[in-house]
Amino acid sequence: MNAATPTKTSEPYSADVCRFHSLAWPGEASSFQSMFRAVWNAFREGAYVWPMQNELTERFGIEFPIYAFTHCRDVVVAVSKAGGLGVLGAVGFSVEQLQTELDWIDDHIGDKPYAVDIVLPQKYDGDAGEMDLGRLTQDLQSMIPDGHREFVRSLLDDAGVPELPKDEALGSGLMGWNRATAVPQVEEILRHDNVVMVANALGTPPPDLVEMIQSSGRAVGALCGTPAQAARHAAAGLDFVIAQGYEGGGHTGDIGSVVLWPQVIDAVSPLPVLAAGGIGGGRQMAAALSMGAAGVWTGSLWLAVEEAAASPPEIQSYLDATSKDTVRSRSYTGKPCRMLRNDWTEAWGRGDTPETLGMPLQMMAVREAMTRQGRYPDQAQSVAFNPVGQVVGTMNRVKRSADVVLEMVEECIESLERTRRMLSTE
Ligand SMILES: Cc1cc2nc3c(=O)[nH]c(=O)nc-3n(C[C@H](O)[C@H](O)[C@H](O)COP(=O)(O)O)c2cc1C
Repeated sequence: MNAATPTKTSEPYSADVCRFHSLAWPGEASSFQSMFRAVWNAFREGAYVWPMQNELTERFGIEFPIYAFTHCRDVVVAVSKAGGLGVLGAVGFSVEQLQTELDWIDDHIGDKPYAVDIVLPQKYDGDAGEMDLGRLTQDLQSMIPDGHREFVRSLLDDAGVPELPKDEALGSGLMGWNRATAVPQVEEILRHDNVVMVANALGTPPPDLVEMIQSSGRAVGALCGTPAQAARHAAAGLDFVIAQGYEGGGHTGDIGSVVLWPQVIDAVSPLPVLAAGGIGGGRQMAAALSMGAAGVWTGSLWLAVEEAAASPPEIQSYLDATSKDTVRSRSYTGKPCRMLRNDWTEAWGRGDTPETLGMPLQMMAVREAMTRQGRYPDQAQSVAFNPVGQVVGTMNRVKRSADVVLEMVEECIESLERTRRMLSTE
């Protein structure tokens, strides 16, 4: 293979080709021979440096500044093995389930690092000081109006989604997003040696959690959607922030990424900032790095990879969607969350239907619907919860996670080289 010609996405990738490109990028060389000379000289002089390294990649021990948020343990392992950092989203797991997932990752990831993401919102309904899970669940259940439960049930019935078997256990739907569930999750996370970082969504983590994570030697970061939120994270002593723009999948604010990233970078400098929201390939990665981001934090991309544990109808809905097919809706979690537009999101947006509840009540109200969707994915697609960002429009093929990482690196390097050539005086 000619190392000067980047492999096309349809061909299998070799990690070595990518590494060669990333090694060659910052030198003066533009031809294959001069790239080769630059690399050879670097080796000979012992000045072998990964050009995509920075403070965070060195701290985490990763090759490329690519962070992959996913709920799927197989994707975590595949991305970390490919040189990025797999980040497991913990919010949907009980502590016992989380332990199972993290043990599995430990058994399969070798000596590679990984990270975990928790969701502890700044504001949520219910008594924030209540640490008894049973009492908290009961209090919250009593706050959900019957009309909401009935509306949810009718949406699924109308879509033809079968009822659950009578003996199916539902769980509370409370999930990991309050202190009573997040603190035990963090205690579990810190028992796993290869975890190098914990990130939090929806707010600055409280000082005791920051202290707990940092005193274990791990880094702690948090997502933000405005420069003011980023400044609060910095003031709380976090190690980095993740700036997620409007186009991103999942919970997201209303400032577009290209506007948000430099504002956040300026607001918290010299704290490292990871750019999130709308990164679907190496050109977007190059843009983020050029603006001063320390790396890219991606989510949607990993929903349609070979290793993802999504049902075939769900994967197909991502492959079919264009960038116009997503909407921000409170209808699942109570906070604005970008997902595929469908009959469910349209129904909650109408004037004659119930107002969405706050977090975590809305999620608890739709718990039964989500369980029915999970059990009958073929019948449920028109009302299913499919959080994804606008990059869904470019997710047109199922790929291996390692190929996604390596293609992104290679395209990023090509983009940066193209930009550098514009500045060349030769
Ligand atoms: C299916 C899905 C679920 C998500 N859940 C969470 C979550 O639990 N915690 C979190 O910090 N971010 C979550 N996010 C947001 C991602 O961490 C990431 O910031 C976002 O996907 C980046 O934008 P992109 O989708 O354009 O790549 C989720 C994103 C998706 C697509």
